[in-house]
Amino acid sequence: MNKKEIIDLEEKIMAQTFAKRDLVLTRGKGALVWDIDGNEYIDCTGSYGVAVVGHCHPKVVKAVQKQVETLIACHASFYNDSRSILLEKLIGLAPKGMDRVFLANSGAESVECAIKLARKASGKPEIIAMMGAFHGKTMGALSATWKKKYRGPFMPLVPGFKHVPPNNLEKIKAAITDKTAAILVEPIRGEGGILLPSDDFLPELREICDEKDVLLIFDEVQTGFGRTGKVFACEHWNVVPDIMCLAKSVAGGLPMGATFAKEEVMAAFQRGEHSSTFSGNPLVCAAASAAIEVLVEEKLAERAATLGKYFKGKLEALQEKYNIVREVRGLGLMIGMEMRFDVYSILMDCMNSGVLVLDAGRNVVRFLPPLVIEKPQIDKVVEALDAAMEKENK
Ligand SMILES: Cc1ncc(COP(=O)(O)O)c(C=O)c1O
Repeated sequence: MNKKEIIDLEEKIMAQTFAKRDLVLTRGKGALVWDIDGNEYIDCTGSYGVAVVGHCHPKVVKAVQKQVETLIACHASFYNDSRSILLEKLIGLAPKGMDRVFLANSGAESVECAIKLARKASGKPEIIAMMGAFHGKTMGALSATWKKKYRGPFMPLVPGFKHVPPNNLEKIKAAITDKTAAILVEPIRGEGGILLPSDDFLPELREICDEKDVLLIFDEVQTGFGRTGKVFACEHWNVVPDIMCLAKSVAGGLPMGATFAKEEVMAAFQRGEHSSTFSGNPLVCAAASAAIEVLVEEKLAERAATLGKYFKGKLEALQEKYNIVREVRGLGLMIGMEMRFDVYSILMDCMNSGVLVLDAGRNVVRFLPPLVIEKPQIDKVVEALDAAMEKENK
């Protein structure tokens, strides 16, 4: 099939729920992807933050190849060797005290599990989420997501969700009632514009939750797995939540979600109260074990910290050069560049110069490259941005 035939088929048959780019990607390696005509791109979308260990990492490929010939499907009502190996690795990686995990297939599902668990463990119905937050688009996760565009058409959503301004401890305290089960927060806001909390926010939020007997849930779906320069973003502030959601990057590119919880919290679930047919699928577990080995052996979190500083420095230099940039912010290789205007044309110009970048809201260019990206590749990204911004600046 050629490019046009592929695009026509997807347009004709697939539910039209995605805003598409005019690009057919057929191959990937490390931080690079290629389109059907062989054109090369530096992938700063990381497939929306998934490709942390890089596209088609050889260790992940090998693990998948081995598992695919051994056992592909195994429902979690049976035990499985690959699953048990992964569980041990995951708990070895998780913040201390998070000793249990539910495996799912996506970020939204990991949030659904967290919501149900918080209600069950606390015996209370309400969840406080942040204005501007993104937690996914299934009904429970959507109820915690802030954007009206996503929520509006699907009312009524799950009852019991309240939104408060982020980074505002007083407003959070005021919103807590005797019905509050949990507070749900992205340590660093992702889709909502790459916003960092103030230094005292998460530690004080932890104290408030302890005082008021409210569970603290961190959604690390985008920030987790080395992205911000630590394995989990909450490590930057030394705060351990009661429940933590992970997905995107955990299985080296294959679909997996994981909800971690403290032993006494996860104990609230009785057998049968939460499940999923593909939970702990051996093929995905084998990929995830390999991805964790890569993360640790290649010291990718440390790499994200070092390269993130380098990348951010280069973007700050662009900010000095062009007054169309309002702010550069982020941690590790999760970086946002807020512009004074809609960034769509920047995204398109970069794409035409062989660089794929994301937006985060209307006016933020977002970078979530694989953590294996090389310095010369970052330099090329900055060159492409420079050219796109030069054009905008005219
Ligand atoms: C913080 C956060 N939570 C949840 C989700 C939902 O994940 P998924 O798209 O895998 O359902 C996302 C997706 O971008 C996210 O960034």
